[in-house]
Amino acid sequence: MNSQDRKSIHGIWKGRWTFILAAAGSAVGLGNIWKFPYMAGEYGGGAFVLIYLICILLIGVPIMVAEILIGRRGRNSPANSMAYLAKEANTHPHWKFLGVMGAVAGLLILSFYSVAAGWAFAYIFEGFNGTSAEYYNLEFNNFLKDELKLISFHSIFILATVFIVARGVIKGLEVWLNRLMPLLFLIVILLAIYATQTGAFLEGVNYLFSADFSKIKPSVILAALGQAFFTLSLGMGAIMAYGAYMPAGQKIGSTALSVAFLDTLVAILAGIAIFPIVFANNLEAAAGPGLVFVTLPWAFVNMPLGLIFGKLFFVLLSIAALSSAISLLEPGVAWVVESLKTKRYIAAGALGLIAWTLGILSALSFNLLSDFTPIGDRNFFDSMDFLSNQILLPLGGIFIAIFVGWVMKRENVLEELEMNEGWVLKVWYFLLKFLSPVLVGVVFVAAVFFGVT
Ligand code: TRP
Repeated sequence: MNSQDRKSIHGIWKGRWTFILAAAGSAVGLGNIWKFPYMAGEYGGGAFVLIYLICILLIGVPIMVAEILIGRRGRNSPANSMAYLAKEANTHPHWKFLGVMGAVAGLLILSFYSVAAGWAFAYIFEGFNGTSAEYYNLEFNNFLKDELKLISFHSIFILATVFIVARGVIKGLEVWLNRLMPLLFLIVILLAIYATQTGAFLEGVNYLFSADFSKIKPSVILAALGQAFFTLSLGMGAIMAYGAYMPAGQKIGSTALSVAFLDTLVAILAGIAIFPIVFANNLEAAAGPGLVFVTLPWAFVNMPLGLIFGKLFFVLLSIAALSSAISLLEPGVAWVVESLKTKRYIAAGALGLIAWTLGILSALSFNLLSDFTPIGDRNFFDSMDFLSNQILLPLGGIFIAIFVGWVMKRENVLEELEMNEGWVLKVWYFLLKFLSPVLVGVVFVAAVFFGVT
């Protein structure tokens, strides 16, 4: 049976665009608007961007195709889709673990992601009335020391995520993503246009696109591959879960390309919006994680209409984070609903509570628990980040590639992709069977055993 005949109990999206909006919503997040610009800044601009683009195309897109394919053919939560497809391929049912691990990774990521999203949300209400760069530095540090504030914004963010997921695939996800995503694209474009007016536009663009090849080091390649994975939401079943709600007859290959294109476009537009503003104010591009919370507010303050555009920027960041957070919760919630036959709002509430509780430890890792270092010398927030992004996601990605590349029957794969043999398929299979597992494996080993990140 293929996806023409099977239906997800959670519903199938009606809109032709909903899957693309949803997957792009998952993909476009803090990773694009907060992390991508500061990583590009730290790792030398164009050289990093170039490698990042190559990783998206050669590794990200093939694995995304594999995830969508598993989800749509399985028509269930990632865990149960994997179980179904393992049976179809006459192989061991333990492949289900891939989906279970993904659901767990989703909760772990959600827990600290929500804390960082809370910063973005809090900054919408920031007064922006400081008169020096140091002021904003101090302000951000004070904010990180304020447990109550951090936990409050984290709580609001988790509540919003739970609310949307609890409403269901059609009334929650489809309705809200159709509202939020157009707004998100509009704001990114507005901000990029605003940046063209600041004077340092060319300098900013030049910084992002002129590749200095002497800057390409192993650590840059590792960082770019890790970021490509994270930004496309791969390796934990988020895209797989959404695949289950994709209408039959929609082409998986071109859809994955569109999602990757939108995701990259927003990251680049965010860079185009941020760097000219940074340069116009003679600020440091390699400011690290503080780039959007310290450098940017100060830059906005110095510009005409800066207050409005500054707030708009943090509205954008909050929307992007919310549409990503939904996809972190959905795989687990769908699985609990299927397995325990509970009501969706109970599953969403219970899993949200777990993520919220873990998130509190992350929020406290900047203040009360700053000496608590579960993994290496990382605080709790960084440990969760490390565990999920450096360990669980790469492992998930490798196994997804192996499952679709080596375990599934080729005829079933072709049927689900609605494709015939040909060079496109050959290239995709090659990337999935050999290049992705090997490269992602190298990154995994390098990060975990040699600490290169
Ligand atoms: N892609 C999102 C970002 O760029 C984060 C995200 C959402 C994610 N869902 C995910 C990352 C699943 C990995 C796996 O911010």
